[in-house]
Formats: sequence, C-alpha cells, structure tokens
Amino acid sequence: MSAAASPDSPDRRPPDGGAATSGAPTPPFAFADVETLLALVSTSDTVADGVVGGDVIDVLSHSLQCADILETWHPHDEELVVAGLVHDVGHLLVPGDADGHGRHGADAVRPLLGERVAALVELHVAAKRYLVATDAGYRRRLSHGSIRTLELQGGPLHEAEVAAFEASPHAADAVALRHADEAAKVPGRRVAPLEDWAPLVVDLANRSAG
Ligand SMILES: [Fe+2]
Ligand SMILES: [Fe+2]
Repeated sequence: MSAAASPDSPDRRPPDGGAATSGAPTPPFAFADVETLLALVSTSDTVADGVVGGDVIDVLSHSLQCADILETWHPHDEELVVAGLVHDVGHLLVPGDADGHGRHGADAVRPLLGERVAALVELHVAAKRYLVATDAGYRRRLSHGSIRTLELQGGPLHEAEVAAFEASPHAADAVALRHADEAAKVPGRRVAPLEDWAPLVVDLANRSAG
C-alpha cells in the first residue's frame, strides 16, 4: 500500500492505491496497516470540521480530543477510544460527503480494526440523528458545524429508525462516542499527540488480525 495522499492534494489517491480523482473518489477503501491510517489522520490538521463559537477546529485536533475524552470516560474500552480517534477519517477519504463519512470511514477501518470499531465509526452519524430525535436538549448543545450538516445527514431519525438504532448492540457506545464527538471541539485544548496513540492502535489491529 502506498502512502496516503495529503487531504489538500487536488489529485487525491485513495489509500488502497485506487485510481486518482479530482473530486470524491469512489469508495470503498480499506486501510491495510496502521501506519497508513495514522499517516492520513496526521495530515488532517488543515482540514476543518466543526465550528464552535466562531472558531473552526481541524480534524486532527478534534480526533485527538475525542480519543482523550473517551479514554477518560471509558478507560477500559480500547475499541471505543480508537473508534473516537478515527471516527472522522471518512471526511479525509471522501471530502465533502458529510452524509456518507461514517460509512466510508467504517469500510476503510473494518479490515484493520474489526467489526466493532467499524460499527461505532459508522454509527456516530446516526447517533447524532438519534439524539436529536430523542433528547430535547441535545440539539441546543450541538456545534454550529453539526447543526449545519444535520440536514445533509437526513435530519432527526424517524420513529422506525429510532427503534432500529436502539436495537443495535452498539447503540449505547455509539451515543457515548457522539457525546465525546460534540465535546471534542475546543480550539487550542492541549491533548496527547497522535504518536502517543499509535501503540494502542497497533495493539488493537494485531488483536483484530488474530
Ligand atoms: Fe463525524
Ligand atoms: Fe467528529
């Protein structure tokens, strides 16, 4: 597998070595190794995600804060912490697809990090739509960026969709990831750098392969 292209590259080449495109490349992609996954995440310090109080936070800072928060909330759940670290990698793989970024990220990390991490990555988008539908106060706490993309992602879940979401064995953890996601948009907050997470991600990938 070749090194991932910079998110800023106009001639983006998917990490699986697929055909280069000038727009959104055709999924699915699959990361074959942790090095390639983290290399892509590491380049996301120039890619804006949410907007909080008028300040834009980059995807790398957001991802690091999300993992840091989940490690505090769920210190024994390494899969959930790693899911927080990589939950927005879909934004880097297919720029501009707010609706599909959870699915793209899930498809890309599933072979490397396993089904549960992939499910949590995919469900973090539905979890926002679920919480908007079921928690009256949640929408008021959403960042401007999350509100902006909510409609692109389908708006609040409908009743049948709420039931389907709640039936997932990953629903509670996806909601936890979502709450961390919203809390992980504090510009300038100092957290551990990406390289500090590498051993945990490698460990998880090795266990997943075993
Ligand atoms: Fe996201
Ligand atoms: Fe996020």
